[in-house]
Amino acid sequence: MSRVNLIYARAKNYCIGVDGKLPWHLPKEFSWFKKITMGCPVIMGRRTYEDHKSVLPGRLNIVITRQKDYQAVEGIHLAASLEEAFELAKKESEDIFVIGGVHFFQTAFPFADRVFETVVDAEIDGDSYIPTFDFSQWQSSELAVSEPDEKNRYGFTVYERKRG
Ligand SMILES: NC(=O)c1ccc[n+]([C@@H]2O[C@H](COP(=O)([O-])OP(=O)(O)OC[C@H]3O[C@@H](n4cnc5c(N)ncnc54)[C@H](OP(=O)(O)O)[C@@H]3O)[C@@H](O)[C@H]2O)c1
Repeated sequence: MSRVNLIYARAKNYCIGVDGKLPWHLPKEFSWFKKITMGCPVIMGRRTYEDHKSVLPGRLNIVITRQKDYQAVEGIHLAASLEEAFELAKKESEDIFVIGGVHFFQTAFPFADRVFETVVDAEIDGDSYIPTFDFSQWQSSELAVSEPDEKNRYGFTVYERKRG
């Protein structure tokens, strides 16, 4: 049985995106994303994919779209639903990561065994917001606390949350 993981970075006010992009450029946070997801399938919606339009290396990349003729770059696997994406991913690895966007975080949350949640120390006025998931019955641990610096405008905290 595969383990379903969600991974996202949110602002203090739960914003995760603006104009189809991440609201920040935080290389140190991206390093955490890379480290946690490396070697595992990553499942994303078509808009999240279009933010970077490339393959995240070292991971099976699955993009969900309803467009039957959607043209993605070589190396991207397409799925027509989250269920189809899970089926594809399960063949590859025990750990599966849902990496966005809003609809897929919401839909996958009931199946999630772990959530890697980064809280960015900022309030952002964007157009994509993650739901306020209830983690009160989950076990949480802090993986990292990062201060702002010249390359990372905001500080952040990375939490690993496991269903209790
Ligand atoms: N901060 C973070 O951690 C984080 C993570 C991920 C994304 N983001 C941000 O979130 C924003 C993008 O996310 P989003 O929520 O707008 O879009 P999204 O979930 O990435 O993609 C939406 C697309 O997924 C497809 N889709 C949605 N529901 C479907 C279903 N039931 N069956 C099949 N396909 C379905 C549709 O593609 P088609 O229209 O092609 O059919 C839809 O347009 C960006 O700003 C991105 O930077 C932030």
